[in-house]
Amino acid sequence: MKRILTVMSLMAALAVAGASASMAQDVQGKPLHADQLANDNWLLRVAPTETSKYLLLPVEEKAPEARLKLIVDGQLRRNIDVRMALHKIDYFVPLMLDEFRGHDLVMQVHMNIDRSNRGGTASEICWQNIRLSDEFNMTNRERFRPLYHHTPVYGWMNDPNGMFYKDGVWHLFYQYNPYGAMWGNMNWRHSTSRDLLHWQDEGVAISPDAHGAIFSGSCVVDEKNTAGFGAGAVIALYTSAGDVQSQSLAYSTDGGRTFTPYAGNPILTADVPDFRDPNMFWNEDINAWNLILAVGQEMRIYSSPNLREWKEESRFGLGYGSHDGVWECPDLFKVKNERMKSEKWVLVCNINPGGPFGGSATQYFVGDFDGHKFTCNSDPQVTKWMDWGKDHYATVSFWGAPQGRRTVLAWMSNWQYANDVPTRQFRSANSIARDLGLFNDGSEWYVSVKPAPEMLAARGKRLKNPAEACEIVVELKASATITLANAKGEKVLMTYDDDARIFSMDRTGSGEVGFSEAFPCTTKAPTHGRLRQLRIFVDRSSIEAFDAEGRFAMTNLVFPSEPYNSLKVKGGKATIYDLID
Ligand code: FRU
Repeated sequence: MKRILTVMSLMAALAVAGASASMAQDVQGKPLHADQLANDNWLLRVAPTETSKYLLLPVEEKAPEARLKLIVDGQLRRNIDVRMALHKIDYFVPLMLDEFRGHDLVMQVHMNIDRSNRGGTASEICWQNIRLSDEFNMTNRERFRPLYHHTPVYGWMNDPNGMFYKDGVWHLFYQYNPYGAMWGNMNWRHSTSRDLLHWQDEGVAISPDAHGAIFSGSCVVDEKNTAGFGAGAVIALYTSAGDVQSQSLAYSTDGGRTFTPYAGNPILTADVPDFRDPNMFWNEDINAWNLILAVGQEMRIYSSPNLREWKEESRFGLGYGSHDGVWECPDLFKVKNERMKSEKWVLVCNINPGGPFGGSATQYFVGDFDGHKFTCNSDPQVTKWMDWGKDHYATVSFWGAPQGRRTVLAWMSNWQYANDVPTRQFRSANSIARDLGLFNDGSEWYVSVKPAPEMLAARGKRLKNPAEACEIVVELKASATITLANAKGEKVLMTYDDDARIFSMDRTGSGEVGFSEAFPCTTKAPTHGRLRQLRIFVDRSSIEAFDAEGRFAMTNLVFPSEPYNSLKVKGGKATIYDLID
């Protein structure tokens, strides 16, 4: 992993325990004085001669967001929102000072607290604890941090963005908050992988600008230089979320490491509030680019010769599928059924709320697309879900995956409680990579979801009992129950009902479940036929169950107080494989 920094043990201890006021005094680094101004404002100065790498800001997650204006040479460089600690320090977040080196950095902080209720002034703990430092610990120090799922090195993550594959490398960008482990300050951060299992942090790739925060979007590799930024440039389209939502373009001529925002931004505007998450692709059928955008409760489809100028072609969605929430994060691509030599277009539509078990989920439509109009093959009232768990959202696919694969990642959480899950150093992981296909049941086409082949390569030695990171393969003949448990009596109960053809997962007693009323639940999936083999992927805080043939997937978070180490299977035969020894 590319780590910019070394370990600092005191910081680690603070972050694990949740620093108390006295412990916070132990943080190394030079304290930085702040001046109290009128009306809830403070002023901090970092001198041009300062050489430290970071300004460490103390965060308390229950505090309101303070607004920090970063002013360089009298000009506003940007605003950031930080939950500056009032009573206790949960952890520190680093502000990187590189970009300000040699200049006066003046920070004006507006605290957003009602001082009349706080009995006096200047009692907030943050003011004695802001530090200049050369060190910030990015090593994993949390027990719920997954061992083989992608997570941010610190801070908050939601949707996967701009995923593409090039020259043997999988690129993943994602919605990212560098200034806390809760949603806010949206940037795109970047990770890369050669095997979809081991990820390297590549740092922040696109930061908010005057057009707004950087919301979700997509990337393509413009091999033919249609956009004019050079052959092979990586082009990103994303939503600029300011006072309004509009679409912006940024290009990279170094393979996706750094991006330059296009001077002509925004490239696409509308007169509606929810207008976001552009997903573009080259459509060889019409020899042009297509773009699909989520607009309220429908999708708009566009075409372009050059990725900069887009023409609206059609709209899809009114009256189709689930409308119990806002439509977000679309995708549109072809998938195949090799055996039947069939090919269909799939329109992916993430929806929040309105999922089958409450909150966020991924629905999709199967149909035909001629580059102009998507026609759904099902009746309007038919709703199809790509995953039947509670923690599978914002699913989109990689551009340019090899061998014609359609490989996707989801954000493994749910907006109902994503900000409240019991982690601190980071929040949220991605699902394992999955490859999509096509199957039919009666007259309906469905998307098949299988673990990516890289997951087979990750299998290690056989184990007697489940480990923190393992795959459990269960051969089934008829109905079965599968119980994963630990010595504390915490358990996850999975059942397959061969008569009803239903698979279910009950996490009500799985460990820590009390942080949200919406968390404890049992999720159920139709199996579209008899289940023969189950593949269950266990990591420190997640369980993903698949029919080996791809006819259902179910993804659920779990937070056991100690790892599940016993497995009981009635009605089937289990083999356990260590993953990533
Ligand atoms: C989905 C979403 C997107 C938006 C992003 C903002 O989870 O709401 O629609 O672009 O998150 O972080």
